[in-house]
Amino acid sequence: MKFKVSVIGAGNVGATTAQRIFEKKYADVVLVDVVEDMPQGKALDILESGPVLGTDSKITGSNGYEETANSDVVIITAGIARKPGMSRDDLLLTNMKIVGSVTKEVVKHSPESIIIVVSNPLDAMVQHAYNISGFDSKRVIGMAGILDTARFSTFIAEELDVSVESVNAYVLGGHGDTMVPVIGATNVGGVPVEKMIEKNKLESIVQRTRDGGAEIVALLKTGSAFYAPSAAIVQMVEAILLDKKQILPCAVLLNGEYGFNDVYAGVPVKLGAEGIEEVIEVDLNTEEQNALSKSVDSVIELLEIMAKNANS
Ligand code: APR
Repeated sequence: MKFKVSVIGAGNVGATTAQRIFEKKYADVVLVDVVEDMPQGKALDILESGPVLGTDSKITGSNGYEETANSDVVIITAGIARKPGMSRDDLLLTNMKIVGSVTKEVVKHSPESIIIVVSNPLDAMVQHAYNISGFDSKRVIGMAGILDTARFSTFIAEELDVSVESVNAYVLGGHGDTMVPVIGATNVGGVPVEKMIEKNKLESIVQRTRDGGAEIVALLKTGSAFYAPSAAIVQMVEAILLDKKQILPCAVLLNGEYGFNDVYAGVPVKLGAEGIEEVIEVDLNTEEQNALSKSVDSVIELLEIMAKNANS
């Protein structure tokens, strides 16, 4: 039996994610967007790559949700993306409305699904989707930590001229300027990264990681990153569909873990068929714990702005 995955928003992130999942061969894909004919066109184009790739999966495009019914996983990428000079927070009120309306449709048509939220500002959007969905929080998850960690790992591997596969890194906290690369939990082939890269260089790598999204936005000029984000989404989808129980950094609702309650933040979790099967608590030093608090505070600020605008 094939799995069914729906991707809402057929822009850069959504279409690339749909393509990557189609190419995995284990899931049929439905691509939804408000723009007439566009998701249908992209889906047909991807479908026609099937004979070349040897993929019999189905992929369809739609402007509605009927076709998404009973999806195993639904990925929400709908919304607007950043332009140069914009922060993720500038997207807040626009994407709040979009994510809210999309979530209602997802719940109606796929009540048993696991939702992965990608729209920014990520932590606030996933919390909004959770509130609207009425789902158990283990089935509403945000994608950010894998991407931030991948950026951090890329820069470390580049600096040391080692395989990216030798780098084990963690970036926690919110998906924003306050994200927390956990140096103490980062090693290269088992050797603590602090022993391999001198302090100043490591600090500049941390800063480049924090600015990773903005660096791409400044280069693209018309939108934000989508190749690495879509790869990160697919790692989550695969962990869920194949019940891998993989430990991955994801945005999840904290219920006392790391000292926070009722707020989404990026932490390592065990991801499997049930969604979030466990929140993993890594040891943080005081500086890292404070940085995580600051990061969570900035998410709470956005939640407060959303609450004030809830009825507007
Ligand atoms: N329902 C479905 N699709 C929608 C809706 C809606 N209510 N509103 C907007 N969309 C679609 C747009 O028509 C567009 O095709 O969402 C798509 C977004 O695509 P892009 O503008 O290419 O943005 P993208 O780069 O894919 O980023 C999407 O993910 O990483 C985040 O910050 C990013 O919030 C942004 C989101």
